[in-house]
Amino acid sequence: MLEFLRKEGIGENLITEIAQFRKVYAVDPETVYRIPNPRFYYYGNDIWEEAITALLCGENLLLVGPKATGKNVLGENLAAAFGRPNWDISFHVNTDSASLIGTDTFENGRVVMRHGPVYECAVNGGFGILDEINMAKNESIALLHATLDFRRIIDVPGYSKIILNNATRFIATMNYGYAGTRELNEALTSRFLVIEMPGISSQNLRKLLQREFPNLRDEYLEQFIGLFQDLQKKSENSEISTRAVDLRGLLASIHLMDKGLAAGKALQMGITNKSFDSFERELVQDVMRLRIPERLERTQIFVN
Ligand SMILES: Nc1ncnc2c1ncn2[C@@H]1O[C@H](COP(=O)(O)OP(=O)(O)O)[C@@H](O)[C@H]1O
Ligand SMILES: [Mg+2]
Repeated sequence: MLEFLRKEGIGENLITEIAQFRKVYAVDPETVYRIPNPRFYYYGNDIWEEAITALLCGENLLLVGPKATGKNVLGENLAAAFGRPNWDISFHVNTDSASLIGTDTFENGRVVMRHGPVYECAVNGGFGILDEINMAKNESIALLHATLDFRRIIDVPGYSKIILNNATRFIATMNYGYAGTRELNEALTSRFLVIEMPGISSQNLRKLLQREFPNLRDEYLEQFIGLFQDLQKKSENSEISTRAVDLRGLLASIHLMDKGLAAGKALQMGITNKSFDSFERELVQDVMRLRIPERLERTQIFVN
């Protein structure tokens, strides 16, 4: 991971400090299996440098942005770079302190506490991903205030006070704007440094596609990049919604083409059909036809 950061041109001083962090904070052998081995690398140097600097300063991060901007990939990559065990915690309407910190259970006739993921992460010096944190009710997770600010504690009435391991960091993600998302209140937001996640640049998308599909022909590498740009532009101009601007879907479509499915069908499943409005689907399809012939076959797209 550090090799990747070096190759991408991340400042050597930051890399040295990460290496130092790893040396100072040992990982319990029982949690070593939680250190991620990333399937994807995050591309975007400015974001990398902001995130690394904040974590080195002991801060927690909130990654805000539309879907498929690499929020989870970056979170996982950060845990890997810092060599920390990773807890991935999905937030939803029923998330409350019991599900995060723990609950009472009976064991041999005695009441004991079964620890939740935030507790485990806190004591083991983990990197905790608080995924889609804004889906939870602010009041239900107010207990995290003391965990996330300078106090760095978990204080559950009736139990002892737990002090966070010095290596523990929390990285929250949030998506906003689509149905069902809530606002994160000021008190909670204030406890994070906030990074607004940009859409991927063409240059970085090229790197991503080349790594994911080393056998992709240059011609179509450029067409897929162009297609994604076209969709982004149409959405920015409010000609289409953000539904079809789906990098996750584009990657999945190219995988289907690699398996032999005709390009038109693959893009329909991965991109066009994500819109449930027939007029919008037409618009998206028009954009695609200009770049990718529907009956395009595998051998035209890939070298082998
Ligand atoms: N800047 C980026 N660098 C690398 N991959 C990216 C980037 N932006 C998006 N992706 C890709 O988009 C997909 C979705 O990423 P994910 O982290 O799950 O998004 P999010 O959590 O923001 O919805 C992944 O395949 C990821 O590799
Ligand atoms: Mg996500």
